[in-house]
Amino acid sequence: MNRDLILILGVALMAILAGCEPDAADEKPSPPTVASAPSVPSPTPRMYPVTAATRETYQFYCAQCHGTKGHGNGINAPYLTVPPRDHTKADYLETRTDEHLFTAIQQGGLAVGRAPCMPSWQHTLDENTMHSLVSYIRELCQCEAL
Ligand code: HEC
Repeated sequence: MNRDLILILGVALMAILAGCEPDAADEKPSPPTVASAPSVPSPTPRMYPVTAATRETYQFYCAQCHGTKGHGNGINAPYLTVPPRDHTKADYLETRTDEHLFTAIQQGGLAVGRAPCMPSWQHTLDENTMHSLVSYIRELCQCEAL
């Protein structure tokens, strides 16, 4: 009887101690982060979710022209020869593919046959961020490419 009790206590203690062991996986060196950014625009940018960093990036780099809410009425908008695109308007944006939006962001307006006052961001933002900005614009317009 006593032996059984000791055995049970022993097993319970081992279980508790095992629970205190640092997870073996934590001690392994983390695998090197592989650059996963594809060099070609992805047809499914929702693989690149909108994060707090995406919204911050938009406010920092895009809002002065496109407006803090994307309506194309940023503080800089009146000084541009072509009005910044209203990112909340589905009627135009749903006629554009995600690749088109990505290329506009990456290489600027001229690269997609639009005005050069839409700057190129490829030397400022990384590809994942630019993909997530496409996702954000899809969120603003609540539209997908038709
Ligand atoms: C200096 C002002 C300016 C800034 C800053 C700016 N844009 Fe633009 N953007 C424009 C203008 C102007 C257009 C409209 C071009 C046209 O209609 O020909 C435009 C158009 C676009 C378009 C649509 C392209 C099209 O087919 O009309 C996208 C997408 C876009 N901008 C994304 C961004 C993002 C994302 C940022 C921030 C990283 C950004 N823009 C920053 C001025 C700006």
